[in-house]
Amino acid sequence: MNRIKTIGVLTSGGDSPGMNAAIRAVTRAAIANGFRMMAIYRGYEGLIHDEIREFHTEDVSGIIGRGGTILRTARSKDFMTPEGREKAYEVMKRREIDALVVIGGNGSLTGARLFAQEYDIPCIGLPGTIDNDLNGTDLTIGYDTTLNTIMECVDKIRDTANSHERIFFVEVMGRDAGFLAQNSAIAAGAEAAIIPEDSTGADQLEQFIGRGIRKSKSSSIVIVSESPKCGAMYYAERVKKEYPEYDVRVSILGHLQRGGSPSAADRILASRLGVGAIQALVDGQRNVMIGIRNDEIVYVPFSQAVKSEKPIKQDILDAQNILST
Ligand code: F6P
Repeated sequence: MNRIKTIGVLTSGGDSPGMNAAIRAVTRAAIANGFRMMAIYRGYEGLIHDEIREFHTEDVSGIIGRGGTILRTARSKDFMTPEGREKAYEVMKRREIDALVVIGGNGSLTGARLFAQEYDIPCIGLPGTIDNDLNGTDLTIGYDTTLNTIMECVDKIRDTANSHERIFFVEVMGRDAGFLAQNSAIAAGAEAAIIPEDSTGADQLEQFIGRGIRKSKSSSIVIVSESPKCGAMYYAERVKKEYPEYDVRVSILGHLQRGGSPSAADRILASRLGVGAIQALVDGQRNVMIGIRNDEIVYVPFSQAVKSEKPIKQDILDAQNILST
């Protein structure tokens, strides 16, 4: 492998709070180690179309507290094809970019994995997603901020739910993972969480209603993981039909969950992982995601990071059941 002189960085997939802190860390760590830093706009789409410019230290000033991503992002359909990846490779060769840092979630790191298999380009991934669904890392960049945002929203919903003595179904993001739903339910003291990881096969609505709503409670909040078929609307409609004695409402939090200034935890995580990404390249690592486990930086092979099913810990599920009775 040739010595790395120039590194490209891009953000891809859904933006997440802390991506800017990661861009800043990658850029500054790269420059501190004597590399040239190239910023690639609009994710893999911008790589294919050569939307690239050099970044210097001052280009990442004042961004650590900003949500979204200054590099913009995209879900590139072209990069999912061999032809698209070939175009991307040609742009990298022409631009003399020797290595790539990809900040993104499951789909983005799957793309990096394919690219690294097909071309001799060292790729390093940073887990940038609110979903916390990447394996081999305890946390992903953006997850903590989003959890806090959901918690604040649910606290507010509780005020009106109490006043009207209602059941609220609050739908949150997470794609196929229930981390946001389950942990925001605990943080906000919700009465239940309905998550895709539930493997009991039981009807989660019946379970919730069956537990009975404590007399001393004037409201109930159920956090529901987004789902095309069984989201918050589905459960609310069922309650209206099957349990008409309850006054029920739905709140779908949507994209407000993904915006906003990153929490201190996300800024620190993104900064550590960003520096870790450049250190990994210095150490000769390639095709790994930089993760954090037990407060240590770890290198996780892409194949492991993107494999499905990151389990939710049983003690968290137990806590939900005990605390909501
Ligand atoms: O992966 C992040 C995420 O916010 C998911 O939680 C959600 O399902 C999806 O992206 C929404 O994507 P979009 O912004 O493209 O609608």
